[in-house]
Amino acid sequence: YRSLRVALLGGGTVGSQVARLLLEHADELAARAGARIELTGIAVRDVDAKRDVDLPHELFTTDAESLILGADIVVELIGGLEPARTLVLQAINSGADVVTANKALLATHGPELFEAAEQVGAQLAYEAAVGGAIPIIRPLRDSMAGDTVDRILGIVNGTTNYILDRMDTTGDSLESALAAATALGYAEADPTADIEGYDAAQKAAILASLAFHTLVPVEQVHREGITGVTAAQVESARKAGYVVKLLAICERLRDPDTGDEAVSARVYPAMVDRAHPLAAVHGANNAVFVEASAAGDLMFYGAGAGGAETASAVLGDLVAVVRRHVAGGPGIAESTHAELPVLDIGQVTTRY
Ligand code: NDP
Ligand code: HSE
Repeated sequence: YRSLRVALLGGGTVGSQVARLLLEHADELAARAGARIELTGIAVRDVDAKRDVDLPHELFTTDAESLILGADIVVELIGGLEPARTLVLQAINSGADVVTANKALLATHGPELFEAAEQVGAQLAYEAAVGGAIPIIRPLRDSMAGDTVDRILGIVNGTTNYILDRMDTTGDSLESALAAATALGYAEADPTADIEGYDAAQKAAILASLAFHTLVPVEQVHREGITGVTAAQVESARKAGYVVKLLAICERLRDPDTGDEAVSARVYPAMVDRAHPLAAVHGANNAVFVEASAAGDLMFYGAGAGGAETASAVLGDLVAVVRRHVAGGPGIAESTHAELPVLDIGQVTTRY
């Protein structure tokens, strides 16, 4: 096999698992991808930090920019907007393909990054950015490209689902359940992103853009987090046959008078009937329930957060990118072609 050089930016919860799997499964991955994936280094803040995964010390560096130079593929697992944005642009402009799990970056700077990638014919893959291990980006973008998606109901944040599930099943407090979710590696570096719904809103923007072939800016996603959800509310919902879930709802709406269509996306804690499949999503699992015209109802379910789980999706992207790299095929096209207008956030009145 020929060898492709992969630079890993970030060696935390997800990055360290990606590195471990790359090293442990080097031969199988080479056979599946058609090229050896050579891990050239891991950029971190502190090369001497104690890590859960035992990785060769010589792989670690604080010099992300030098690591990017000479890489065929850059895997960004730092998170947040900066320096992730600058480093991803640097990677694209130096001719590398990019894999990222960074939904904050994509929901905020997606158009700029996809345009930069398109200009140089680079691939930008992000299956891990929504739903952790669950394949949902490629199914929506590719498998369902011939259908019409009417609505998506998603549990897309593992941390808040873990917290609400603990409040429902054990009567645990929000604070104590959040501490446990953080210790398990589910929460963002700043868990405000999880509990205030920012992370779910970013994922809703990504899902709605793919499902409705229209760029949905994250600023147009209505957002409420779970910090206002009380133990008493969870208890009374339970007694009435409901469970409280943080839902991301992305809908195609039709004006009954004019027939005009528009898109709405919103995130808020909702009472879900215990008979609905989404009510059975426990712990840090996620599920994306898609209602489509021809396909009917589909549900994508699995681990929504966690190091190894998310690394699975990152490695899937990496193998796909290497295959296209080897075959010299076209990059991954985006499908946000402004088919539908996006409702202004102030116009959203419907509730689930
Ligand atoms: P962590 O906070 O665990 O790891 C971040 C890593 O980035 C650390 O290794 C850190 O270095 C490194 N880093 C931070 N700043 C810099 C910098 N300026 N230069 C170089 N390296 C830097 O994050 P996660 O692994 O949890 O998340 C990574 C990405 O994956 C995020 O975008 C997140 O949203 C996404 N994601 C995470 C999931 C999860 O379950 N955790 C699930 C799905 C997506 P050091 O180790 O020295 O501190
Ligand atoms: N903090 C995120 C969550 C990680 O809890 O869902 C996965 O994107």
